[in-house]
Amino acid sequence: MGINDTVILVVDDKKEHATATAEALQRIGHTCLIATSGKEGLKYIEAGNVDIVITDLIMYDIDGLQILKATKERLPEAEVVLITGYGTVETAVDAMQKGAATYLLKPININHLRAEIAKLVEKQMLVRNNKELHKQLDEKFGLNGIIGNSPKIQKILNIVNQISGTTATVLITGESGTGKELIAKTIHNNSPRKNKPMVILNSAAIPENLLESELFGHEKGAFTGALYQRKGKIECAHHSTLFLDEVGDMPLSTQVKLLRVIEDGVITRVGSNETIEVDVRLIAATNQDLEKLIKEGKFRNDLYFRLNVVSLKLPPLRERLEDTVLLIDAFLREYSQMHAKAVFQISSDARKILYKYPWPGNIRELKNCIESMVVVSTKETLGVEDIPDHIFQRSNEVLHSPGLVAGMTVEEAERELIKTTLTTVGGNREEAAKMLGIGERTLYRKLDRYGLK
Ligand SMILES: Nc1ncnc2c1ncn2[C@@H]1O[C@H](COP(=O)(O)OP(=O)(O)OP(=O)(O)O)[C@@H](O)[C@H]1O
Ligand SMILES: [Mg+2]
Repeated sequence: MGINDTVILVVDDKKEHATATAEALQRIGHTCLIATSGKEGLKYIEAGNVDIVITDLIMYDIDGLQILKATKERLPEAEVVLITGYGTVETAVDAMQKGAATYLLKPININHLRAEIAKLVEKQMLVRNNKELHKQLDEKFGLNGIIGNSPKIQKILNIVNQISGTTATVLITGESGTGKELIAKTIHNNSPRKNKPMVILNSAAIPENLLESELFGHEKGAFTGALYQRKGKIECAHHSTLFLDEVGDMPLSTQVKLLRVIEDGVITRVGSNETIEVDVRLIAATNQDLEKLIKEGKFRNDLYFRLNVVSLKLPPLRERLEDTVLLIDAFLREYSQMHAKAVFQISSDARKILYKYPWPGNIRELKNCIESMVVVSTKETLGVEDIPDHIFQRSNEVLHSPGLVAGMTVEEAERELIKTTLTTVGGNREEAAKMLGIGERTLYRKLDRYGLK
């Protein structure tokens, strides 16, 4: 048994050299295999159970460079150390560009050998732990790193699981930053269409006059500036998934044409009479209230029904605050790795503040907040002082509002309730009125009366 699970292969056609090297490593607990010819070395590499290869550069049958090449092909994660005499140092240096980890000069200094191997073992353990961590995260938090174990998000994940394999059209709604695009990608990546990339079209980001050509493509000369024939996004998504982001922003005229695509499965490029058959799975998303848009005559009812076959309503983060615990930890890990910072935790006082904040920008805001805290931090534990000011202040208001106490008048209680509700929804009056079960104008009057404007 070695001090770790790393298997080291020593290849040297001088048997006494091979044994001496292996023994120097075995004596401090490493597991070694010995090959006394290049050919024998290749056999071990072919068999696959090797993590580090130490090979002599010049051997009578197969040289160290060929061993290096075979290792990199068969075992891309294995490390190769070359042993070289003064005469061939240059070759060894060149070999490092081909993927060798390092080289050792003959005669081998045992301490140097052990130190180099220790570095490589540590590097491999880090890589392995990292992979294991990601695997665990995937298993624990479901598909593709969607984090959260609140009942609300678990319900969404169950549906995602059930429908990913189908071609059913999906409508994803939810406030900004709740993970609509992430869910769309997850559905695509878990579908039989995953081998082709998901195509994304954001209706809000494209000028109205270009939207149709983006969607349907155009023929050369179809309009001024159409110098070449061009495929549209729908055609590009043939046999794949088309993600229609911000579908609520699509103009009515384009909506009619999209409806026809859904009903007939064909498109016509702008400036053409020819129809092209397409097989596209549609996922649409919006942070707008489509039913309201329908009432206002801005969204077609018939298109809504065609899109809303499977409906996924992503809850705002403030309705599943229990997930913030997992999200904070995951983002902390992600960003301390990305920015190479040794930030490992957040103090419990700081956590209290973060748990109380209503996160109007949802998961994106939380993610950005953690990233900025990690980037500026110089400590292993993030504290209250690292929290961005605006978050600290809003959160503090919530923490220190008196709540309901006997002795308050109904008016005082109402004032508190309105204040807390407004803070929770990030100052959005429409949303606050809805939560309070009163009209927006009534809310407005009360804000005025209580001096909350
Ligand atoms: N459950 C989750 N677990 C981990 N990361 C998440 C989760 N939900 C969202 N995110 C991350 O939060 C960020 C925002 O998500 P996304 O872009 O999918 O939101 P959105 O609803 O499309 O927002 P918008 O309406 O503003 O376009 C992304 O970086 C995404 O990876
Ligand atoms: Mg989005």
